Amino acid sequence: MRILNIIHSYFNHHTKAIDQYDVSSYINDHCREQFDLGRETMRFLKAAILAGTVAVFAATSAFAADVKIGFIVKQPEEPWFQDEWKFAEVAAKEKGFTLVKIGAEDGEKLQSAIDNLGAQGAQGFIVCTPDVKLGPGIVAKAAANDLKIMTVDDRLVNADGSPIEDVPHMGISATKIGEAVGQTIVDEIKKRGWNMSEVGAVRVSYDQLPTAVDRIDGALSVLKANGFPQANIFDAPQAKTDTEAALNASTVVLNKNANIKKWIAVGLNDEAVLGAVRATETVGIPADSMIGVGIGGADSAINEFKKPTATGFFGTIIISPKRHGYETALNMYNWIADGKAPEKLILTAGQVALRDNYETVRKELGIE
Ligand code: GLA
Repeated sequence: MRILNIIHSYFNHHTKAIDQYDVSSYINDHCREQFDLGRETMRFLKAAILAGTVAVFAATSAFAADVKIGFIVKQPEEPWFQDEWKFAEVAAKEKGFTLVKIGAEDGEKLQSAIDNLGAQGAQGFIVCTPDVKLGPGIVAKAAANDLKIMTVDDRLVNADGSPIEDVPHMGISATKIGEAVGQTIVDEIKKRGWNMSEVGAVRVSYDQLPTAVDRIDGALSVLKANGFPQANIFDAPQAKTDTEAALNASTVVLNKNANIKKWIAVGLNDEAVLGAVRATETVGIPADSMIGVGIGGADSAINEFKKPTATGFFGTIIISPKRHGYETALNMYNWIADGKAPEKLILTAGQVALRDNYETVRKELGIE
């Protein structure tokens, strides 16, 4: 495996014809110290590379087939995570490695998923954890199984709540995307000529998750800067980041404030805002008295936009499952195959989409 790794790495750096000097100097310069190779192994390696292109390419594809990467997500039923998997599969096909998709809804399942990957001979995994506070335990589990680890969407935290910076992470630029939610709502409130003092805001919250707090704070900061009264913002804490939990939490808020007739809703994702929208429908608030703007842009939002008449789900900020799925998987592959460690922190952008332009936005983002 180690030798295949070196051969593979050689070909990733050398597209020109093989010559004796090239091979020898590459191995001397790059591999001897890094891999602590003995004289015999060095000789074997040089011979293997010089033996010919065909044999070496056979070896490199054998290497790719040996690579197994896990992609663990906290909510496999959520369209966003299915899209991440779909794009990770594209990377797997392109590079020829095996992708192992695992849903882990709680800490126990996550721990055994990591052990499982170790037992299967995987070399690394990407994870969106069900609970960021499991951070140090997850890192230790990965190390015990000799697995490289990267996180996606939800960043692991230390016991003191600070992010675990050593683990490469790809997430969304939460505050900025939240601000785009806030701006979209403000623009629509103005367009509808609503008086902000008469509008209530459902804050569908999941405060144990830092990215959720950042997204929602971003949205509310723009609303408040535009005159939305703090007193009209009502917290609806959800037990889980799905639509049902958001519906339950939002219903409580609406029932407690039955005097308010116009509403807006913010939350960490489309599911959260959809829960609030479903709640307004249940209590009889008409669609044109609700402005919900989500974050995501996967099927949850699209199915809503496809309905023949507009609902209270006014818009979403489309984020990129392609970057979060394809790019993380590719980065993990390059780390394993090439020793090229990924960037420690990548924050991706989003784009506002409404009922009438979401198809164009999706095309622009290459996620059709
Ligand atoms: C969190 C949310 C998901 C999705 C991702 C995007 O994990 O729970 O719904 O929004 O972030 O990074």
